[in-house]
Parts: sequence; C-alpha cells; structure tokens
Amino acid sequence: MAGKLDGKVAVVTGSSSGNGRAVALALSREGAAVVCSDLRVAALEGGYEEDIGTATHDVITGEGGAALYVSADVTKAADVDALVSTAVSEYGRLDVMVNNAGVFTGLHTIVDETDDQWDFTMAVNATGVFYGCRAAIRQMLAQPDDGEGSRGKVINIASIGGLVGLAQEPAYCASKGAVVNLTRQLAVDYAPQRINVNAICPGFLATAMVRPFLDDPELNKALHDQSPWPHLGTAEDVGKAATFLASEESGWVSGANLVVDGAFTAG
Ligand SMILES: NC(=O)c1ccc[n+]([C@@H]2O[C@H](COP(=O)([O-])OP(=O)(O)OC[C@H]3O[C@@H](n4cnc5c(N)ncnc54)[C@H](O)[C@@H]3O)[C@@H](O)[C@H]2O)c1
Repeated sequence: MAGKLDGKVAVVTGSSSGNGRAVALALSREGAAVVCSDLRVAALEGGYEEDIGTATHDVITGEGGAALYVSADVTKAADVDALVSTAVSEYGRLDVMVNNAGVFTGLHTIVDETDDQWDFTMAVNATGVFYGCRAAIRQMLAQPDDGEGSRGKVINIASIGGLVGLAQEPAYCASKGAVVNLTRQLAVDYAPQRINVNAICPGFLATAMVRPFLDDPELNKALHDQSPWPHLGTAEDVGKAATFLASEESGWVSGANLVVDGAFTAG
C-alpha cells in the first residue's frame, strides 16, 4: 500500500525514546527512510515504549523499513551538521527534519534553579533546535527545486510549556517558548522558498521524561484532574501529528504550533 511519505528522507533527533521514537516509527510506517539519532542508541530506562529493549532503527528495519542510527548531541553544531550530511550521503537528500531531543530537570521555582540547570535546558531544548533548523534549511535550500510542492518540512517538538506557564518549570518553559517563536520566525523567512516550518506542542504524555509525575500519586491525580480529555495522551499521538506535518496534506501549513494536548491549554 502506498504511504504518505514514500520516497521521503527524514531525520529525527532524540529518536531512541518516547516521542522521538514514536515519530520515527510513524514516519517509517508511511514510507520514509529515517535517520534515527540520539546521544544513546538504547531507549531511556523508565519509558513506556513497546519493544523497549530494541533500538528504534532496528524496530524499523525489522518491519521492512529503511533506517540507520547516527549518534549526535544536539548541543553540538558539528554533530548536527554531520547528522544531516549523513542523511544526504546515505539516502540522497533531506525532506523532513524533526527536532525532538529535549530535557527536563525537574520541578522547582526560579529561586531554586541553578545556573547549570538553566544552561543545560536551554542548550538542549533551544540551541539544539536552532542547530537542527539551520542545518536542515541549509540542506533544503541546496537541493534541486522542481518549482512546486514543499521543498522540505521542519518539525520542532516544542511543548504546551512554550505557550503557557507551567508551575515550577522556568527553564523548560523559557526554552520551549524560544522554540515556538523560532518556528514562527523561520516560517516567515522560508515561506517564499516553500519550506514548511511547524511545531508540535504536546501536553503531558507517558514517556520517561514524565515518569516522575506519573509515579507520584498526587502529581498523577493532579495531571488527570487538569486534563479536560478523559485520558492523557501518548507518544503515538505526537507521531500522528508529525506524520500530518511531514506529509503533503499540510502543504500550506507553516508557522503553526499544533497543540496535541487533549484541550489542556484550550480553556
Ligand atoms: N513527555 C511529555 O509529556 C512531553 C510534553 C511536551 C513536550 N515534550 C517534548 O518531547 C520531546 C521528547 O521528549 P520525551 O518525553 O520523549 O522525553 P524522553 O526523555 O523520553 O526522550 C528524550 C530523548 O532525547 C534524547 N536526548 C536528550 N538530550 C539529547 C541531546 N543533547 N542530543 C540528542 N539526544 C538527546 C534522550 O537520550 C532521549 O532518548 C522533548 O523535546 C520534550 O520536551 C514531551
């Protein structure tokens, strides 16, 4: 059966765990060749992934898809540039760049936030997305242009924390706010070249990052109480949104920050 992304080449950062893994699998299942990239090839302990013991690229190739793994730290521009170069040398081009890698250093107010926590969060969540967008857009602009359709899709994984203030998450919210507005800014600059730049803003989902919330009975109850939707989301919900933003179905969608949050921020 034809997939929505047949013949496309995608890079996903932070693809070993959680949302990145779900996005990589979803893009592959629509036909994309996927360059999976992370600091570590194994999924983080504490995640909720099916087949957690099998690396993402091995799950994909086991299903008959095309994938490889490249180790890259998104806080290092040289790593991110080399990652995009590998996608091009292995698969010929880059069509979809998913800047997903992210970190969260736990709940605390700004009074207790250390310089290291702030710098680390901004380096991964904000600067890492900047490096990914820059490398991807440089490559997309260099590729032959047939004069129609999208010349490339950049998808940044932001957060509802980039749209509203979440209690006791100062650096996380600041870093995601940077991603939200960088996404809009790049969409404006590269609309004339037909490069789509969008973000996904997930609400609270069951991944290793959110395990400490879900394992704490009080925080778990608070998350469920605050959610208008009867259940929390999953990484697969992010995978489906990314598939839409990677496909031709979102051809004229650019500069959007697509909330995937069960109406959490709608009220
Ligand atoms: N889980 C949620 O509820 C939620 C909600 C909103 C947004 N997000 C965002 O989704 C993205 C993925 O989060 P997740 O929940 O899957 O987290 P996760 O902790 O399960 O996975 C994050 C992955 O990123 C990798 N990573 C971390 N630092 C990296 C670096 N410097 N370079 C390369 N890879 C790195 C980790 O090794 C890990 O595999 C993040 O940007 C996060 O902020 C998550």
